[in-house]
Amino acid sequence: MESSENQWGSRLGFILATIGSAVGLGNIWRFSYVAYDNGGGAFLIPYFFALLTTGIPLLILEFSFGQKMRGSAPFSFTKVDEKWEWLGWWSTLVTFVLISYYSVIISWSFKYIYYAFSGAWGSNPEAFLYNTHLQLTSGIGELGGVNLSVLLIVLVVWLINFVIVYNGIEAGVEKASKIFMPILALLMLIIVVRGITLPGAVEGINKFLEPDFAALLNPGVWLAAYGQIFFTLSVCFGVMIAYGSYLSEDSDIVNNAFITALANCSFSFIVGIGVFGILGYMAAQTGQPIEEVVAQSIGLAFVAFPKAINMLPAFNTVLGVIFFVALGIAGISSSISMVEAVSAPVMDKFNLSRKKATTIVCGLGFIASILFTTGAGLYFLDIIDHYNMQFGVAVIGILEAVVIGWYYKAEVLRDFFNPISNFQVGRWWDIMIKYITPLFLTYMLIRSFVMELN
Ligand code: PFF
Ligand code: NA
Repeated sequence: MESSENQWGSRLGFILATIGSAVGLGNIWRFSYVAYDNGGGAFLIPYFFALLTTGIPLLILEFSFGQKMRGSAPFSFTKVDEKWEWLGWWSTLVTFVLISYYSVIISWSFKYIYYAFSGAWGSNPEAFLYNTHLQLTSGIGELGGVNLSVLLIVLVVWLINFVIVYNGIEAGVEKASKIFMPILALLMLIIVVRGITLPGAVEGINKFLEPDFAALLNPGVWLAAYGQIFFTLSVCFGVMIAYGSYLSEDSDIVNNAFITALANCSFSFIVGIGVFGILGYMAAQTGQPIEEVVAQSIGLAFVAFPKAINMLPAFNTVLGVIFFVALGIAGISSSISMVEAVSAPVMDKFNLSRKKATTIVCGLGFIASILFTTGAGLYFLDIIDHYNMQFGVAVIGILEAVVIGWYYKAEVLRDFFNPISNFQVGRWWDIMIKYITPLFLTYMLIRSFVMELN
């Protein structure tokens, strides 16, 4: 099966696909508001700490682990020892749960492309999103019916996921990434240039970067930084292990990991500046303080942004369309990586063809997505996302570092990837994997768990 169906065609294709997975909805809306909520400019300190001590080390680990074992996460862990197979399946499950709502958020972006054309959100995007568009109710008790028009678009999103992953690595994922990534970069550049040249932008950007150093004493801020790093780099989801397994045996690892991480984090940062430039403009127009125009969670992209677009001095429609097309493309290039990471273990374990495995995964994924198209969709989304990230991803991060660091031995993996890499990684990498990552993460997970109980 070493066909182009399970092999990257070029190094550039691999890098664009990993950046495609990394850059997603998380960079455009999640990073900005998480940073803002957790100390603004000071958030960059735990963020870079988590990036350098855990994010990049785990990215190197996942690329090389997949490349060495030549299989999906469960398959690769089985090769370390059969008793670790479940860890791979756990990350597969977490990823499956994640796509089930991630695809729904992408479908909102798609619908908002159309709304941007027609300005359908009107003068009150908040009421539009919650009452008219999603028809959300406040809790499970009022589950409400499935929103059929959203469901239809969710089906379209799943069909796109399906067609791309069904076509295999080179002809599907790689080809799509080569088309999507340059377009995404161009569209975001337009938004950012527009954002920073608006009156009031500077105040918005200052607010975004203004450090609140007291936040650094809060363990929740550090956990948020780790969570954002895992989410944004797509590590601990089985994605980068699967992508690594399609590399030829002598492909560079270290350099590719640094390029992916650097491209992803600079993208977040630049987009954050653009987003806060636009929010600063809106604050200046309305005379409100920035605190009031920044919205929580999905509100940033689907409420605050439409509001700002309404106020732009010119080209509102065009800029609105550009923004939501960019969001949709960023989302799809990430969701295909999740579909790949869930399909690959199914192929490995049950010896199924790619075509059968992707059909099953996308079919089940679509069914799971239906929950988030109901009136209680956002309610479920918030809760499930919270637990999926904390008890899914953070725990996988700890266990992955322990299993590879201590059981398989970090030194052994490093001796595998250093000789094939352009530049060499020193003993610091072993220390990060064996000590810093598991100790720090465990400590913070317990601290935040205790806080949650109180
Ligand atoms: N990195 C993506 C983002 O920032 O939106 C999200 C993501 C993609 C998470 C793939 C997990 C994953 F497996
Ligand atoms: Na993406």
